[in-house]
Amino acid sequence: EVAALQEQPLAGLRVVITAGPTREALDPVRYISNHSSGRMGFALAEAAAQQGADVTLVAGPVEQSTPMGVTRLDVTSAQEMKTAVDQTVAAGTDWFIATAAVADYRPVAVADQKMKKEAGTDSPVIELAENPDILAGVAALTEQRPLTIGFAAETRNVAEYARDKLTRKGLDLIVANDVATPGLGFNSDSNAVEVFWADGSERFEARPKRELARDLIRLFQSHQSNRLPQ
Ligand code: CTP
Ligand code: CA
Repeated sequence: EVAALQEQPLAGLRVVITAGPTREALDPVRYISNHSSGRMGFALAEAAAQQGADVTLVAGPVEQSTPMGVTRLDVTSAQEMKTAVDQTVAAGTDWFIATAAVADYRPVAVADQKMKKEAGTDSPVIELAENPDILAGVAALTEQRPLTIGFAAETRNVAEYARDKLTRKGLDLIVANDVATPGLGFNSDSNAVEVFWADGSERFEARPKRELARDLIRLFQSHQSNRLPQ
């Protein structure tokens, strides 16, 4: 009994995680997206579920199998991801972890038929509209606000940009990784990150994403226990 409890340190904790890219439709067959694999989010979902958390994974289009015990909600666009996140978080959530590479913009107009090439005309221009910031929306909640954790993939000025996102979005923690390093981070099996919060930071040198997931969860737990009861 005691041993079982020790293996489930996150029992009763409700965790919502976004993962993967979003796809923003141009017409029925074309879209704008990115190369996010979803691996980091799926690894975090697996690690949290293994430790007894009640995990909901809101996943964009990715080729990943659902970790055991995890509730998976599949979405396509950023707007669909936001709807799924807002509904799930509103039902009661302790941690919100945003690993998704949400498309910052979507095409303003989505053609209902496949667009045709028009010979002899100018190249088309795609007009874009900004997508809602899913993470900033959760961080701004005034009631039932979960411990809110963002991810930032940067190619330069990593610490500066990450700290800026931490304050601008009102987050508790931000996990930053330098995607300029070949073989690390985006679309890779290994990752090295630095985590920032209001009055501190911690570096995690390169390690497999599964191992990093367990280490990050331990860090999130230490921030959870610092919180005042809500
Ligand atoms: N994020 C989000 N919704 C968006 C954009 C980003 O939830 N529309 C989340 C990501 O899941 C990530 C964090 O915000 O946890 C940072 O994403 P990032 O793309 O680095 O930040 P942006 O604010 O979009 O800034 P930029 O792309 O200009 O660096
Ligand atoms: Ca972005």
